[in-house]
Amino acid sequence: MSQIDIIKTHYTTQIESAQDLKHLDEIRVSALGKKGEISKMMGGLGKMSIEEKKVMGPALNGLKNEINALIERRKDVLENKALDAALAKETMDMSLPVGRAAGTLHPVQQVMEEMAVIFSDMGFSVAEGPDIEDDFHNFTALNFPKGHPARDMHDTFFMTALEGEEKKVLRTHTSPVQVRTMMSQKPPIRIIAPGRTYRCDSDQTHTPMFHQVEGLVIDKDIHMGHLKGVLMDFVSTFFETDVDVQFRPHHFPFTEPSAEMDVRYERVGSAIKIGQGEKWMEILGCGMVHPNVLRACGIDPDAYQGFAFGMGVDRLAMLKYGMPDLRDMFSADTRWLAHYGFDPLLQANLATGLS
Ligand code: DAH
Repeated sequence: MSQIDIIKTHYTTQIESAQDLKHLDEIRVSALGKKGEISKMMGGLGKMSIEEKKVMGPALNGLKNEINALIERRKDVLENKALDAALAKETMDMSLPVGRAAGTLHPVQQVMEEMAVIFSDMGFSVAEGPDIEDDFHNFTALNFPKGHPARDMHDTFFMTALEGEEKKVLRTHTSPVQVRTMMSQKPPIRIIAPGRTYRCDSDQTHTPMFHQVEGLVIDKDIHMGHLKGVLMDFVSTFFETDVDVQFRPHHFPFTEPSAEMDVRYERVGSAIKIGQGEKWMEILGCGMVHPNVLRACGIDPDAYQGFAFGMGVDRLAMLKYGMPDLRDMFSADTRWLAHYGFDPLLQANLATGLS
């Protein structure tokens, strides 16, 4: 075997058994690098006789080309192998389910969002006000005279007064947002105001903190018919069934006339079914905004009228989704939340269903 054949066999075996690209490159350097074995032999050509050169020149060139080709082929094989290995490691199983997010939407949040969806479809926007209110916004501007017994009925939480200042209160209802809106916007006004409210009261159907949604419409020529239409549409959409209602005369200082709206219901076993039945249940208060309230907010009652309403969100959530005790709503029990909570990825929507 000629020396060239020996070298060729040696490198061919090495190249074929190289297991990775790094090792293959080391072989290339040792054969064809500047100081590689074949390069050195080619460097020796200069010292050879013309006869020797004629034989060795083409033989060494052929060897170099063959080794180069072998290396390139092996390189392809090893690169494909490396890619296959990477792909096998980086696969994603697209058939895995997304799964349910760990947290859930609290039913109060869900119901507030459902209400916002229903009222925004009727052209209402959402307004907000502070939880800590002053006497003017919570009572006086809403036509509660000083010392009037209606103030006592609100079981107000009073804050400690700063020196020289009047005591602030935790708002007892969302109605002060009506006052803030009328004082900061010009009619026409069409808002709902969802939020937290506070009264010193606690039993199966009362908690010291609870939620209300207030509604207010102010425009020219607004009458009781608009009020009834809006609220009748609201309850049927909210309970996702035909709901029979009645309006009963009532008293609130900030509306005249005032009414409470009742819905028909029946008990089926331990559950309450809203819509039809022999019994009536009160679910909200409403009325035409009192001229004194309009005046206190800088609106001329001879030019503008309006209606307002207020309802308890927690109780509506209980009625719609069947929770037996109001206090559980705020006990932060994760088992209760997992059971009664809503998928945060599903948004309330009038076209595809509220819940
Ligand atoms: N603020 C009343 C309450 O907390 C609810 C209410 C009744 C709001 C009638 C209104 C209304 O806007 O017109 O009991």
